[in-house]
Amino acid sequence: MKDIILTGDRPTGRLHLGHYVGSLKNRVLMQNEGEFDQMYIMIADSQALTDNFDNPKKIRDNLIEVILDYLSVGIDPAKTNIFVQSQVKELAELSFYFLNLVTLSRLERNPTVKNEIKQRGFENSIPAGFLVYPVSQAADILLFDANIVPVGEDQEPMLEQAREIARSFNNIYGQTFVEPKAVLPEGKVARRMPGIDGSAKMSKSLNNAIYLADDKKTLKKKVMSMYTDPNHVNIEDPGQVEGNIVFTYLDVFAKDDQFERYLPEFKNLEDLKDHYSNGGVGDVKVKKFLIKVLEEELAPIRERRANYEKNIDQVFTILEEGTRKAQEVGRAKIEEVKKAMGIDYFDDDNLKKLIQEKYN
Ligand code: TRP
Repeated sequence: MKDIILTGDRPTGRLHLGHYVGSLKNRVLMQNEGEFDQMYIMIADSQALTDNFDNPKKIRDNLIEVILDYLSVGIDPAKTNIFVQSQVKELAELSFYFLNLVTLSRLERNPTVKNEIKQRGFENSIPAGFLVYPVSQAADILLFDANIVPVGEDQEPMLEQAREIARSFNNIYGQTFVEPKAVLPEGKVARRMPGIDGSAKMSKSLNNAIYLADDKKTLKKKVMSMYTDPNHVNIEDPGQVEGNIVFTYLDVFAKDDQFERYLPEFKNLEDLKDHYSNGGVGDVKVKKFLIKVLEEELAPIRERRANYEKNIDQVFTILEEGTRKAQEVGRAKIEEVKKAMGIDYFDDDNLKKLIQEKYN
């Protein structure tokens, strides 16, 4: 079987370290390992509209920000096809057929959607388009025959729904779709990068994110304001490492050789943690180290972004060409779908013959 990878993001804002650790880094790795037949990254603007329908400008503005983020972390358009969801009409078409295969009560049970309905205050008036977005997401995946979908944990219910729809379609109309599976990030922190304020999740709406596009000054300011151990007041005080966000970030990013270069009085992260726990290491010292560590990760990303910003026409072309390729794939698959469903009336000579025989 061919391996086809597809994943996507809603363009509602710039991407941050949470996206980077939880997904983008892994996408670049997969891309460069090259063990697949096709890899797609979809900018899910139609899905973003399901809860931002009254603010299309936000989506429109962020389209280019998100592709700039992709390119700056190392997504290579020669290896990965980046496209825009709304411009592939077959996705809407397929969603409409898929809607027949799910019940309202099934949609209402989706735990991620349930949560989002609460967060958005939609309880008393759920936009229908929002409730059914998992069906459209199933179309995103199945139209491209993707079998591997790298996503965050919260997307597992969407994959479950997609598998159910694929199965149900295949049972009714004949084998047409593969059942996709999610590939979740490894490691606890990768699954949920905490915000700089110490809350469980880094997110734009909580205003606690470090963005990939943040400049050095902003990065410094954000790290210096990070949540540590509120009881670690004086340098001599023993500090708490557990739940200390600065250490959580170091766990993810710090490499041994960076101690040698930036903090030679400690051998490695374990050594630093020991000393911090015993007292005698100040937060500022640890934070300054974290700034250097993050800067090593983010400076090349920022640089690549600046280059692409200077060649913004090229970026636009990448998006346009990727979308054209996706449209072709979508057109071919929807033909297969309509044929399976027996609604390919004008491409089906057999049907014409039957009608002629009946009435001539
Ligand atoms: N729901 C995903 C998110 O919010 C975005 C998305 C849309 C997606 N369509 C997809 C992810 C298809 C994977 C596959 O992150």
